[in-house]
Order: sequence, then structure tokens, then C-alpha cells
Amino acid sequence: MAPLEAVGDVEVYRDGVLTHEELVGRVKGRQALVVAALDKIDKDVIDAGTDLKIVANVAVGYNNLDVPYARSKGIILTNTPDVLTEATANMAITLILAVTRRIVEGDRLVRRGDWKGFSLDFMIGSDVRDRQLGVIGMGRIGQVVAAKAAQFGMKIAYHNPTPREFPGYQSMSLDHLLATSDVISVHVPLTPKTRHLIDRTAFSRMKRSAYFINTSRGAVIDEDGLAWALREGIIKGAGLDVYENEPHVHPGLLALENVVLVPHMASATTETRAAMYDLVVRNVVSVLSGKAPLTPIP
Ligand code: DGY
Repeated sequence: MAPLEAVGDVEVYRDGVLTHEELVGRVKGRQALVVAALDKIDKDVIDAGTDLKIVANVAVGYNNLDVPYARSKGIILTNTPDVLTEATANMAITLILAVTRRIVEGDRLVRRGDWKGFSLDFMIGSDVRDRQLGVIGMGRIGQVVAAKAAQFGMKIAYHNPTPREFPGYQSMSLDHLLATSDVISVHVPLTPKTRHLIDRTAFSRMKRSAYFINTSRGAVIDEDGLAWALREGIIKGAGLDVYENEPHVHPGLLALENVVLVPHMASATTETRAAMYDLVVRNVVSVLSGKAPLTPIP
């Protein structure tokens, strides 16, 4: 707070506390907005924020911001890349291991009092060694997930919207990746092009033994399609950190044992959140002092 207070008057609201209407009503006269995933910075907010110089998103994803419109008004937009790459990649790996080793299912069973004791054919999961991980989107986070999964002995295949070479990993068309991977992990931003990229058709192309992981944005997948694929045994399991209409989770997913559901917390570690806040503060201070932002949204 101190560096922010040194450059202006600061008003603090816990995230999620201001309704969109309240935000529109309060943005007038403000030069900077610090916002997070649930704050929708659309035309209404931007039009009301006639003095805005910067909107600093406490996130690397920025589908909550109307980027072209804010830009047309000369507003600088920033996000928090790099500082959360490790934590987010670790969450993807955690979900891979949790679903393939049935960790949450086992925890639920123990708590219900249903454990009958050790048995050789009980709670059998899958190893990841020598299995193919298909990474969709080889940006910062996708690359770290690939490197970590390789340490677990996984073979790495990837599909990147723009062709990129990664020695030792196999580049594939999306369809080929879907059809051949044992675990598929999505790391693309949510844009009009990636909305429902993984739909019913995509799930039906996957192996029946495949596991699907999403730590990007919920709307990149069609949740109806995923619930169907998990229920009908079209794929074997899934691990999700993000949902299309957070905090609402598709009821079809809630009813299933073979999906691990965590509440959008991939970057939620003390160290990572501190680094995100620090970057946000430095962006705001820089712009309000007339200097360039450190991490402008590209
Ligand atoms: C991010 O940084 O994009 C996280 O998902 C938090 O919104």
C-alpha cells in the first residue's frame, strides 16, 4: 500500500465486493484501477472512467478487460505475466497426478467411512511415465508444464496456434494431439478464437483412457461436452481449476467421481500472490509517475 499511497489517494475494496454498477459509479475521477478476474472492465466502466490512465489486472489472463476499447481511449492495460508461471504449472501437474492417482476420490471414500482395508485391486490409477502429455498452447505456462511433466517421464507433444519449435517435443495438429495423447493440458488464453475450442467433438476424438486438465479459462472448453464425455466414459478423467461461469460449476461435473474440481486457485500461494501484487503496484506507480508500464498487455 505504501508505494501506492505515495502517488495518490487509495480506496480499497475486497475483490468481488463492488457490483458492476457500483464500479461504474465509483470509477469517475480515478486515474488507476487495480482489478482481478471477476471485475469486468467493459465499455460502461471505461466510459465512466474519464480520468483513467491505467487498469492493472492482478492476473496474467485478461479476458475480463475490453482491451481494444480501453486502448482506443488511451488507457494503459497491464497484467502479471511470469510471476505466476511456476505456481500455475505446479497446479496443472498437481491435477494430473491427483486425477491419474485418484487422490480426491480416495480422500472422499476414506472420509465417508467406506474404506474396507488394503486390497491389491483397489483404487487402481494410471502411471504417467512413458505416457504422452499433449500441451495445447506452448506459452510461458505450457512450456513449464511440459518441462515438469518430462521430469515425470512423460513424452511431450504440443499444439501451438502459431508454429514454434521445441527440441525433444513433438509438434502436432490439434486433432492429432487429441487423438494420441494420454493426458491433455490446456494453456491458451480465452479469446473469441479459443472459446469452446475443446467441445464435444474434440472430447470424442480423445482416447477412452485420456485425462483432460484445464488451468487456463473455463470457457475454453464446453462444460456440457466435458460432463458428457466423463459420464459416458468417452474419456477417463479430468482436473479443472477454472469454470465458464465462476463460481458456478456445471452440475453434471459436480455429480461425477472422475473429475477433480478446485476453485480457481492455481496462482494462490503466498509467494506468488505477493509477487503479483508487487508487479501491479510497480505498474501503477510507474504509469502515474509518467513512466512506461513494466508489463503492458501485448
Ligand atoms: C490469472 O492470472 O489469469 C489467474 O487465473 C487469476 O485470474
